[in-house]
Amino acid sequence: MKFFIDTANLAEIEEAAALGIIDGVTTNPSLMAKEGIKGEANILQHYRDICKIVDGDVSAEVVATDFEGIVKEGEELAALADNIVVKVPMIKDGVKALSHFSKNGIATNCTLVFSAGQALLAAKAGATYVSPFIGRIDDVTWDGMDLINDIVEIYANYGFETQILAASIRNPLHITKCALLGADVVTCPLKAILGLLKHPLTDIGLAKFLADAKKSRP
Ligand code: E4P
Repeated sequence: MKFFIDTANLAEIEEAAALGIIDGVTTNPSLMAKEGIKGEANILQHYRDICKIVDGDVSAEVVATDFEGIVKEGEELAALADNIVVKVPMIKDGVKALSHFSKNGIATNCTLVFSAGQALLAAKAGATYVSPFIGRIDDVTWDGMDLINDIVEIYANYGFETQILAASIRNPLHITKCALLGADVVTCPLKAILGLLKHPLTDIGLAKFLADAKKSRP
């Protein structure tokens, strides 16, 4: 299972990369805005900076919503670095663009996916990744994991190669549930990944070992 970090914050990406367990990065326009990045040139430079930190796929999202605009923007983004993945929204022109990019060897991530039908379309269009938004589904009192389960089953039925990138992950339990269901990738804030570390018995056990170690090292 791949771990991506879901942020545009360079310090957080560096901290995650230093752990040695990060396989890529996902960004979106909201995450970029949160970092205060303004202007086309600065946005493109920020993507270049992220790509230099991480030896893995970096999703950069288009903001155009028409086919020609998505293709133009996607080609510009893809030219920034070898590890750029063009993130395209699940809309009609987005599906057309995914298909175009797939035929032209440009890696893609189909974003804003909330149903199995949308995930099926993304796979048919040849998306490299599909991003079901788990947390946002949970927010409206449906179970995001049901969607992961459905997509895993549908893709297995037909041998689709599109990788299931579980997104909008909010906590460590989301990560382990996705792993149990067979999602290919989770993208999460660093906090959710670090949450996997925590177990009270580890803390108690370590305190005891350290206390006993002192006895052997008077
Ligand atoms: C995915 O690629 C998105 O960037 C992200 O996971 C959305 O998460 P949110 O629902 O916490 O904004």
